Amino acid sequence: MKTLLSEEELERGVRKLADSINDVYQDSPLTIIAIMTGSIVLLADLIRLLTMPLRVGVVQTSSYQGAQRGELKINADLMPDIKDREVLLVDDIFDTGHTLDQVIELMRQMRPASLRSAVLLRKTGRQLIDLVPDFVVFDIPDEFVVGYGLDYRDEYRNLPFLAALQEDDIRDVGSVVR
Ligand code: IMP
Ligand code: MG
Repeated sequence: MKTLLSEEELERGVRKLADSINDVYQDSPLTIIAIMTGSIVLLADLIRLLTMPLRVGVVQTSSYQGAQRGELKINADLMPDIKDREVLLVDDIFDTGHTLDQVIELMRQMRPASLRSAVLLRKTGRQLIDLVPDFVVFDIPDEFVVGYGLDYRDEYRNLPFLAALQEDDIRDVGSVVR
């Protein structure tokens, strides 16, 4: 495993993100919707640096396996009502872009007053969707990363830093269901 972003670098990045969000929304009430489970650590660190009146909700996404592999399932049961509210979607990593794109489509149907998106990480050269998140903290190389909420087969989310998996950690990264 190779460290890509240290605890200190992540902390500085999240602080920068919080400053930008505080600047954009000022004192307007905001609803943050985090895409679980990968953004759980980012969510906890970020919301404590935000200064506007804040509501927090989550959606969970997961990919089907087998015949429908790649199809995204979105569970929005734990989401507060967002109609006519300023909404910011938060995700850990922007890879192909499918997850954020489909969650945005679902949120739009709920008629928020505004809808923006923030991601901690964006993988270089991987995007398949014509969508640019409003806030991007770090651009990283195209490697499979874990830690700070991100998992490999449900492990490593608790690492306080971000690491890239190496050959000896894993041989079939390409088959990971994301
Ligand atoms: P996208 O739909 O391809 O943009 O993928 C976004 C989702 O895939 C993220 O929310 C993560 O859950 C997962 N993902 C993508 N790349 C990685 C990675 O390198 N490590 C861990 N999870 C990843
Ligand atoms: Mg995710």
